[in-house]
Parts: sequence; structure tokens; C-alpha cells
Amino acid sequence: MSTNVAVVGLGYWGPNLARNFNRLPGAELRWLCDLSEDLRRQYGELFPRATVTDDYDALLERDDLDAVVLATPVPTHHVLAAKALRAGKHVFVEKPLALTAADARELAELAEEHDRVLFVGHLLVYHPAVERMRAMIESGELGDVLYAYSHRLNLGQFRRDENALWSLGVHDVAMLMHLTGLEPVEVTASGESYLHDGVEDVVFGTIRFAGGTMAHIHLSWLDPHKVRRLTVVGSSKMVVFDDMQADRKLTVYDKGFTREQGGDATPGQAPARSYGEYITKREGDIWIPRVPNDEPLRLECQRFLDCISGEADPRSDGRDGLRVVSVLEGMQQSLEQGGGVVPLVPATASS
Ligand SMILES: NC(=O)c1ccc[n+]([C@@H]2O[C@H](COP(=O)([O-])OP(=O)(O)OC[C@H]3O[C@@H](n4cnc5c(N)ncnc54)[C@H](O)[C@@H]3O)[C@@H](O)[C@H]2O)c1
Repeated sequence: MSTNVAVVGLGYWGPNLARNFNRLPGAELRWLCDLSEDLRRQYGELFPRATVTDDYDALLERDDLDAVVLATPVPTHHVLAAKALRAGKHVFVEKPLALTAADARELAELAEEHDRVLFVGHLLVYHPAVERMRAMIESGELGDVLYAYSHRLNLGQFRRDENALWSLGVHDVAMLMHLTGLEPVEVTASGESYLHDGVEDVVFGTIRFAGGTMAHIHLSWLDPHKVRRLTVVGSSKMVVFDDMQADRKLTVYDKGFTREQGGDATPGQAPARSYGEYITKREGDIWIPRVPNDEPLRLECQRFLDCISGEADPRSDGRDGLRVVSVLEGMQQSLEQGGGVVPLVPATASS
């Protein structure tokens, strides 16, 4: 059975979602909703089988509407998603789920109460390269994840209504949490606004996870380089995800240090720790795993449909959205305090 979908918000990102839902076999793109008459006209012509409207509330009253896809500005996510869940619709919300952990929690709870799918657009967790990295971590191939760092840099698309942390960093936070599966325990963030007062264009943040794993993220839309790269250093291997590369998204380095017990030290190498324990450097192969070239956005939209039909679970449900917003909220607090350490309460604990 096909899912009748309405895409709400036809600005920069919404049309990409409309394009995907328009061509996926399990979906019917039936409605397009935006406040702008120009955008309704433009996309109504591009997707002639869909009906255009500016009346979101009237749309929610329709019995033949199954699912709402929200690509509206972040401050509207909470109100629009809550209305849709209360109307009994499945909801896909673009990232981040909400502006505060309290609002995100309410949405997660509403979805559970109404038994509806609440799916958050954490696009990169549907990226085949991230899926492959996660499999490498889960299988133990990387060993323990010691630390990770990411760069999301470019010159442009700056925003006035959200800073680089909320606009760009949400991708890295969601990806790091998905990959490690670890509970973040404290965060810091420092940044500066150069283009608009109070909107940080550049942010450097850290996340410490339970067990000692740490991550650093560098975000900027005011940078000479276009970089989207994540490095994960494990106790056995290291892996780099470079999303700017067309055919080598992942590079795996069989490099690291090995602790050895007993015996004499290797000639020319001094014992690094105590008598009888040696730490030796290992530089093995470097290889490029094949990663399917599927569009992550298509996979993400397909997964939403599969969750509605009960064939799959979301990798980014309301609870995941809440965990990510809690980390961003802590980092924002640190930004406002000039970079101080902010401890995090586990997002799973009730408020
Ligand atoms: N996954 C990604 O990589 C990615 C990339 C860009 C943006 N996004 C997300 O997509 C969302 C939208 O971002 P954008 O850059 O497209 O914003 P945008 O401002 O370009 O577009 C938002 C649109 O929503 C419409 N809108 C606002 N309130 C509405 C309402 N009540 N009913 C109907 N329409 C309404 C506006 O008229 C506007 O056309 C944000 O959550 C953003 O974070 C995701």
C-alpha cells in the first residue's frame, strides 16, 4: 500500500525531499505546502500530480494524508510536528528535531503516545559510508573507539536564524552518536560571530563520552576550504570518511600501537612504559572499501516509508533526535559561557 505524503516547506531543502518522495515506489507525493505563493506555483508546475496549499491545518484534517514531511525553519519544527502527531500522522522532521531538549522530548513522547513514526532527518546516519563505518565498529574491526574528529567547512551558505553549531554541527553530533553508540557526558564549545552579531560562523566543539572516548568538531561557513571529513581512531585501526571524494569515501588505515608483554625490548627500541611492557608502532595496509554510490537522501526517505509499513526501525527516531538536541543545547550553553565545560544529564532520563 502506498503512503500519501505531504511535503511542507519548499525553500532550499524541501524540494529535494519532494523529488525523492515523488519517485519512490512506496509513496504518493500528494500535497506540497508552503506560505509562499511563488514557491507553490514553481513546485506545483514541477510536481503536477501534487496539490499545492498554504493551509497546513486543513491538510492535517484529511483522512487520506498518511505522512507529513517538514522542511520548514527549525523554530517551526516543534509546533508543526506536534500538530501532525496529534492529528495521527506519521512525521519526518528535518534536522534538528527542535530548538530545545524539552520540545524534542515532548515530540518523542507524543509519537509514542499516538503510536506514530517520528523520524528525524539525520541524513548522514543513512549514508552508506557511515553504515560501513558502524559495521566496522560493531564487528570490533577498529577495536575500541579512542577518539574522533570532524571538519565541516565551506565558504557559504551562512544563516541568520541559526549558528554553525545548529546548522552544520547537528550532522556531526548525530553521526558521532550513531557510530559510537556511547552516552555523551560533557561538552564544550567556543565560537565567534563575524558576519552577524550573535550568530557564530565558526565553532570548535568537544564531546566526551562515557568510558573516555572523545570527539572534536570544527564547523564553519567562513572558510577557504570545502571539507566534510570525519576521522575515527580505534585501538586497532583508523578510518577516514571523506564525503568530498567521489570514489574513496572511506580509507582504512591498519595503523596503531601494540602493547607487548615480557621478553627483551626490540633492538633499538626503548621500553615505553614499565619493565617488561613495550609499545610498538604498527604500520600496516591502507585500503579503500567499496561503498555503494546510493544517494543518502533517497535511502533516508525510503527508510521513513519502511518504518511506516513496519518493515524497518528508524535509525533516527524521536529519542535519537532528543539525544542530539540535548548535546547541541549543552554546546550552545558552553558557547554562551565562553567555552566552559557543560556536564550532560543522560537524555534518556525523564525531565
Ligand atoms: N539534511 C540536510 O542536509 C539539510 C540541508 C539544508 C536544510 N536542512 C533542513 O531543512 C529545513 C529547512 O531548511 P531550508 O534551508 O530549506 O529553509 P528555507 O527557509 O529555505 O525554507 C523553509 C520554507 O518553509 C516555509 N514555511 C515556513 N513556515 C511554514 C508553515 N507554517 N507552513 C508551510 N510552509 C512554511 C517557508 O515559506 C520556506 O519556503 C531546516 O530544518 C534545515 O535544517 C537540511
